[in-house]
Amino acid sequence: MRKGHHKTNRRDEKGRRRPDREERRAPTRDPRPPVATVRLPGRVKIPPIAKLATLPTVGKWLWTCRDGFEAQLFEELCWQKCSATVLGSGLVETDRQPATPPTFARMGFRIDALVKTPQEAAAALPQHPSRVQVWVPDTDAGNARAGECLAWESTINALRDGIKDPSTPWSAFESGASLGQVCLVAPHTAAVGSIGARVALSLAPGGRARMKRTAAAPSRAAMKLDEALEWVGVSPGKGDLCVDLGSAPGGWTRRLLERGARVWSVDTGLLAPDVAKHPRVRHFHQTAFAFVPDEPCDWLFCDMAWRPLEVAQLLAKWARNRWATQMVANIKLPMKDKLPMVLRMRATLEAGGWSNVHLRQLYHDRDEVTVQAVRGPNT
Ligand SMILES: C[S@@+](CC[C@H](N)C(=O)[O-])C[C@H]1O[C@@H](n2cnc3c(N)ncnc32)[C@H](O)[C@@H]1O
Repeated sequence: MRKGHHKTNRRDEKGRRRPDREERRAPTRDPRPPVATVRLPGRVKIPPIAKLATLPTVGKWLWTCRDGFEAQLFEELCWQKCSATVLGSGLVETDRQPATPPTFARMGFRIDALVKTPQEAAAALPQHPSRVQVWVPDTDAGNARAGECLAWESTINALRDGIKDPSTPWSAFESGASLGQVCLVAPHTAAVGSIGARVALSLAPGGRARMKRTAAAPSRAAMKLDEALEWVGVSPGKGDLCVDLGSAPGGWTRRLLERGARVWSVDTGLLAPDVAKHPRVRHFHQTAFAFVPDEPCDWLFCDMAWRPLEVAQLLAKWARNRWATQMVANIKLPMKDKLPMVLRMRATLEAGGWSNVHLRQLYHDRDEVTVQAVRGPNT
């Protein structure tokens, strides 16, 4: 405690003394766990990407990623002992499915056929109920074929009229059905296959889970949280206690309040006035590194604009201290070489006591990845 500072005696409803403002500001006595050491596999450089996309091969796996992230995805797949080829912008092919879902892929499926018409695609798709998704890679060339994509989709759906396909990807997920995949890889050429809705990287066509922006949201960051929670599959409910680290101006906090949660919002910056004055919000105007919660929370959220490894260490501290049960975080990766950082972050989180750690560059993520985890049984 600083000289001249006297502890206050404020108690919570259970009679526990609450740390006062000075204490919350003081550097925590509990150090962050160290960054876990990771032996990185040998580096793999991709050959220059050809201007004209190479066509994929039947029997191989087709992956799509954010435009410009082919090198990260390619190396990630090579590190998982796959034989990979970059086919063109946003498209990578492998000889098999990797053991761990790739962080930098939005969608992946095994190619059953390469076709030239929607009629051929309809014939190659599963003849049992499956939600059919027709999509293009999210690149300039791919997006220019959006009209062709719609035309293929309506022809294919008309030809599948007799099959009782699930009406939404969610109903495919619930019934354990598959997602029929038609990816227009070049003009008048599509790779066709399918993937179980429950194991697919995303339920959105090509992994483009576009979230609606509402006029009331104080920041576009809220869409990242909406997509992250859709990916996690469960959300905080009424009365749950959520801690939101790096919360200003309050997009995530607002979304959590809308779900009925109580939110402890931690940021050195200010919250939007309507969020700050909400009766279920407590704003801790301080650095997240010194914040110590009065009681364990149900959900830890984090969208701090800070160095990724330090954020991973901070999150690891929350698991080790049993301060949170579930975690969703958006971690910024501004560096060019992101993959070694992803591996170090994962190892640090697992060493801290998080389990079921999943990392993914979601549709709304730019130079960042989203991580979800639950506190391990032995933590
Ligand atoms: C991307 S913004 C968060 C946006 C927020 N999730 C929303 O929905 O409005 C990143 C935030 O991290 C905060 N931040 C950076 N370092 C921090 C630290 N050490 N402690 C707390 N907040 C921090 C910044 O002040 C900034 O408000």
